[in-house]
Amino acid sequence: MRDKTFLMIPGPTPVPESVLLDIAKHPVGHRSSEFAKVLESVYSDLKYVFQTKNDVIVYTASGTGAMDAALSNLVNPGDKVLSLVIGNFGQRWAKIAKSLGADVEVIEVEPGKAINPQELKDRLDRDVNKEIKIVTLTQNETSTGVTNDVKTLVSYIKEHGALSVVDGVTSIGAMECKMDEWGIDVLISGSQKGFMIPPGLSFLAASEKAWEVQRKCTRPDFYFNWETNRKSVIANSTAFTPAVSLIAGLKTALEMIKEEGLDNIVERHTKLAKALREALRAIGLKLFVEDDSIASTSITAILPPENISVPDIRKTLKNDYYIEVANGQNQLKDKIFRMGTLGFVCERDVIMAVGSLEAALYKLGHKFEPGSGVAAVIKYLNK
Ligand SMILES: Cc1ncc(COP(=O)(O)O)c(C=O)c1O
Repeated sequence: MRDKTFLMIPGPTPVPESVLLDIAKHPVGHRSSEFAKVLESVYSDLKYVFQTKNDVIVYTASGTGAMDAALSNLVNPGDKVLSLVIGNFGQRWAKIAKSLGADVEVIEVEPGKAINPQELKDRLDRDVNKEIKIVTLTQNETSTGVTNDVKTLVSYIKEHGALSVVDGVTSIGAMECKMDEWGIDVLISGSQKGFMIPPGLSFLAASEKAWEVQRKCTRPDFYFNWETNRKSVIANSTAFTPAVSLIAGLKTALEMIKEEGLDNIVERHTKLAKALREALRAIGLKLFVEDDSIASTSITAILPPENISVPDIRKTLKNDYYIEVANGQNQLKDKIFRMGTLGFVCERDVIMAVGSLEAALYKLGHKFEPGSGVAAVIKYLNK
C-alpha cells in the first residue's frame, strides 16, 4: 500500500501535514522581504526551543554538519578535548575533534550505560593545570537509547572552566534541555528529529564564553564560520543560499512547538516512552536499557526474543504493518531494534505500534498473550 509507512525510527520522524504543505510550495527568493519575515520568526522561535538568549545559527546540513561547525570553530591543533562517549554519536565528537588535530581523551562506558557524573568530576579535578579546553557530550545517545544527565555534567564542566559542547540532536524538542540555565556553551541539533521536519537543516547556539574561544580559533571553517553566519542571523538573512523550502516548513513546525509548549512536549515524550516500555515488558521483551532512570524518552532499544531475528521483526513490521523501526548500529546491528517516539507522535501512534509489534511477533512465533502489550499501554496512558 502506497503512502502508508509510519516512521518509528529515530529520525527522520513523522512530519505534520501543514508542514509538508508549506515545504511543497514554490520556493521564495532567499533575499526577498517575505523570506526575511520567515527567518525573523524562525530565529526567534529557535531561541525559545533552545531556551537561550544566544543567536541560533541555521545550517543547511544534517546534524553532523552542526557537530562539525561546533568544533571547527573552537579547536586549534593540539588543544585537549575530552569526549564523553556512551555510543556512536559520542564517538563522532571524538572523531571530529581528532580530524581537527585535537589531543583527544575519551571517557567511554559500555553501550547501554550513561556517564557517571562523579567520574567526570574526578577527571576534571585532576586537571589542575586546566589542560582540558573542551568537553564533548551527547544528551541522548540514539544508538543505545540512553540519556546523560547533562545538567549535572555541564555543572562540573563549568566549575572546571572548560567549554561544554553538547549534542542535542535527539533530545531538543523532546526532553528538558535548558541551554542558558544549565550553562551549556555550545548546543547543536538537527531538523529531522524533535523539530518535525525532514532532514537537511541543523542548528547551533553558542555562549559568550564559547564566542571568545571562537575568536581565537586560527582556522575556523569557511562555510560553517560562526561569525559569518551570525551576522546573517542578526540581519534576518542567511550567509549562503539556504534550504528555503525546509525553512518554510520549520516556521510552521516551530509555531506548533510553541503552541503545545515545551513542558507539555517533554511530558508527552516521557509518557509515551514509559507506556511503550510497559508494553514491551508485558509482551515479554527485554529492554536494552533496563534502568528507567537513564532510559531515553525519544528512542527505546529492544532485544529480540530468542530465536526471532531483528531483521525478521523489522521486515514483518514494515511489509505487513507499514511501520519502520530501526536496527542497532555497528556492534549492536541485528542485536537490538530501536523504536522512536520522537517528535510528531501521539498516544494513538504508540497503541498502533504496540499492536502491530504484537501482531508481527505472534506471526514470528513469539509466545505471549496477544493483547497484553496494548492493554499495558492503555492502562499506563490512563493511570
Ligand atoms: C544523537 C545524534 N547525534 C548526531 C546525529 C547525526 O545527525 P545526522 O545524521 O543528521 O548527521 C544523530 C543522527 O541520528 C544523532 O541521533
